Amino acid sequence: MAKILVTGAAGFIGSHTVDLLLRQGHAVCGVDNFRTGKAANLAAAMAQRTFQFHEQDCAVPGNLSGTVRGFAPDAIIHLAAMVSVPESIANPAENDRLNFQATRLMAEAALAHGVRRVVFASSAAVYGANPNLPLVEAATCNPLSPYGTAKLDSERILMELSQAQAVTVRCHRYFNVYGPRQDPASPYSGVISLFRDRLSRDKAVIIHGDGEQTRDFIHVQDVALANAIAATAANISSGIANICTGRSTSLTALHAALGQALGKKLAAQHGPAREGDIRHSLGSPEKARKELGFAAQVRLQDGLCSL
Ligand code: UD1
Repeated sequence: MAKILVTGAAGFIGSHTVDLLLRQGHAVCGVDNFRTGKAANLAAAMAQRTFQFHEQDCAVPGNLSGTVRGFAPDAIIHLAAMVSVPESIANPAENDRLNFQATRLMAEAALAHGVRRVVFASSAAVYGANPNLPLVEAATCNPLSPYGTAKLDSERILMELSQAQAVTVRCHRYFNVYGPRQDPASPYSGVISLFRDRLSRDKAVIIHGDGEQTRDFIHVQDVALANAIAATAANISSGIANICTGRSTSLTALHAALGQALGKKLAAQHGPAREGDIRHSLGSPEKARKELGFAAQVRLQDGLCSL
């Protein structure tokens, strides 16, 4: 049994990570300010004796430090973030506060209170529009948004921390994550959450462009599994790795697979291609397999049935 502190615990990825850690028998302390996270996501966790929760903003100096001191975790999984790329463009100062300064404060708190392991939610957004697929971690990073830049800068300070101190740092570059509890509220929400939402309202899904663009879709259960391994497994060294499936799916194929999974004929309308869209995105899962023993388990067809 380990003690794990999860920031962004009430979010989409955070709440699934908390649920998995509790199922595995760990003691979990969750932190969230409910900026985009929802209390309902933690309903099951709240009923567990091995879970405690603090409503706080990690980007306010002193907050996280106090919680880390009190809980004395073995590991911190830092998932709290501004999750919207368009919002990071509209409000770069808030992006810097939430996606970079909060990471710095988390690292300082870990160091000050002897936390030996840190897991950080990075993103495939750090690569930008790199056409050399599948993307490997050594590829040149050229982020196209303040969001991607803050994630890359956060990786950098955390890897420096791991070199200077006895802290093991794992940076996870998540690809296109989908699954239950993903919020379809904005037009920039994940495409699978938007398709599911349109379907439940008997509306046609909208495909931007010709539908031949491809993504590497990974189920949130697999992302939670990667987080749990990185936070708790023995004999792990510091490093950066893609968290992806290594499988490529076009939007057209996704549309067909979702219709099949839900047993419904899904109407689709094609709109113009989305400005700034990357044509193809695919990660190599090899480094995560070698360094963490992680391989995605959920096949897209099964994952779509879980929605
Ligand atoms: C994803 C990430 C983003 C990250 C980027 C890095 C999500 C939600 N976003 O963006 O944070 O910066 O990877 O590579 O995971 N689409 C439609 N119809 C819709 C909605 C979307 O056709 O109703 C298309 C989009 O135009 C795009 C594809 O679906 O081609 C995927 O879009 P989206 O889910 O927004 O993710 P990314 O753009 O890959």
